[in-house]
Amino acid sequence: MKIAMVGSGYVGLVSGACFADFGHEVVCIDKDQSKIDRLHEGVMPIYEPGLDALVESNVAAGRLSFTTDLAEGIAGAQAIFIAVGTPSRRGDGHADLSFVHAVAREVGENLANDAVVVTKSTVPVGTGDEVERIIAETGCKHRVSVVSNPEFLREGAAIGDFKRPDRIVIGAEDDFGREVMREVYRPLFLNESPILFVSRRSAELIKYAANAFLATKITFINEMADLCEKVGANVQDVSRGIGMDNRIGPKFLHAGPGYGGSCFPKDTLALLKTAEDYDSPVRIVEAVVKTNDSRKRAMGRKVIDALGGMEAARGKKVALLGLTFKPNTDDMRDSPAIAIAQALGDAGVKVAGYDPEGMEQAAPLMPDVQMCKSPYEAIEGADAIAIVTEWDAFRALDLERVKALANAPVMVDLRNIYKPDHMQSAGFTYVSVGRG
Ligand code: UGA
Repeated sequence: MKIAMVGSGYVGLVSGACFADFGHEVVCIDKDQSKIDRLHEGVMPIYEPGLDALVESNVAAGRLSFTTDLAEGIAGAQAIFIAVGTPSRRGDGHADLSFVHAVAREVGENLANDAVVVTKSTVPVGTGDEVERIIAETGCKHRVSVVSNPEFLREGAAIGDFKRPDRIVIGAEDDFGREVMREVYRPLFLNESPILFVSRRSAELIKYAANAFLATKITFINEMADLCEKVGANVQDVSRGIGMDNRIGPKFLHAGPGYGGSCFPKDTLALLKTAEDYDSPVRIVEAVVKTNDSRKRAMGRKVIDALGGMEAARGKKVALLGLTFKPNTDDMRDSPAIAIAQALGDAGVKVAGYDPEGMEQAAPLMPDVQMCKSPYEAIEGADAIAIVTEWDAFRALDLERVKALANAPVMVDLRNIYKPDHMQSAGFTYVSVGRG
């Protein structure tokens, strides 16, 4: 089957490469000429473990190609995926659908055969209806079925998530759409990945509901962590104790500095907007958004407290280890490190930062942070070390070397990657999250 993937960002490129790996013929399309040129040279626009090898082998096998020409790319494709960005619209938090609408129009104007048009971008309820309307408006004469197929992959684990999904959600309104999508995912069907066929609007809402629920789970455990610190309990034990209940489940119960990334912050806001538009409030999600926003800056205050408070902190130096919103990505969007560095800077604290992959993206977002080439360079002369992202590289720091380089052996571990008793016996003043 020929598949066209319009938009070669995170979701488009990973999905395209994986579909090609399943044996489909895939053309990835993007307007950005330099991105397509680099992909032709085998240079990935994002850091994602395993993606370069997957792209290389499928290009070599002749199943995966790249173009900026949409008409050429969609010619003969039975499934045309829309996987362009839906960022938060400046000012109001609604999802900006201008890229999705533009692609729908261009597809309608250039379609030369019957096809299923699939929105993979995260789009608010009703977008499929709008895509259908736009394509009809172009006067397109071919049979088109508009389907919703939300994507649930995580950055940093994208290929594994795509190839072994918990479920595949297809929102289709007719048999043509359902049949083509069944064929697209047939290789996964053989792997026994469950496919859930629902209405298009249900599929669109499932995506937002899933992200909002996961964001809620994280925010819940973060607040439990704060309570643990007050009452002298251990949040990791609490997570284990509740997570062993099958109805709750153990995942997404790691307390930390608050969620970031390109999805949870934008999708929770967009869900609030949809709820507002339909006069059907989602107050839990409202609370999650507010709580998570204030948590990031509060983590900066936690570091300041470890320096001895506002007065004592002025003029001191902090090493921030990990700048991306999570490990195994170079993505800095809404990373807690940005708010933490800001809070420290506002308090007159000097900040040195290090990240294994995100330095280039981080530098323009954190202009006052001194960017270092290694964790040890950042630690040199620091009065406190704050672990913000749980990269593997920080799990086994040479603690003797850290003590020798730092001005004071103070560690604020915002991801709980070290054990308190171990750090105390290693001679550190150790502060973590929710382990009172
Ligand atoms: C998230 C969802 O997990 C994916 O299913 C979804 O497809 C994706 O958004 C999307 O909508 O595109 P992602 O943003 O890549 O994926 O990253 P996650 O692994 O979900 O982490 C998000 C944030 O939550 C990170 O800042 C992470 O550090 C934080 N987190 C996660 C915690 O603080 N605690 C946890 O227990 C889990």
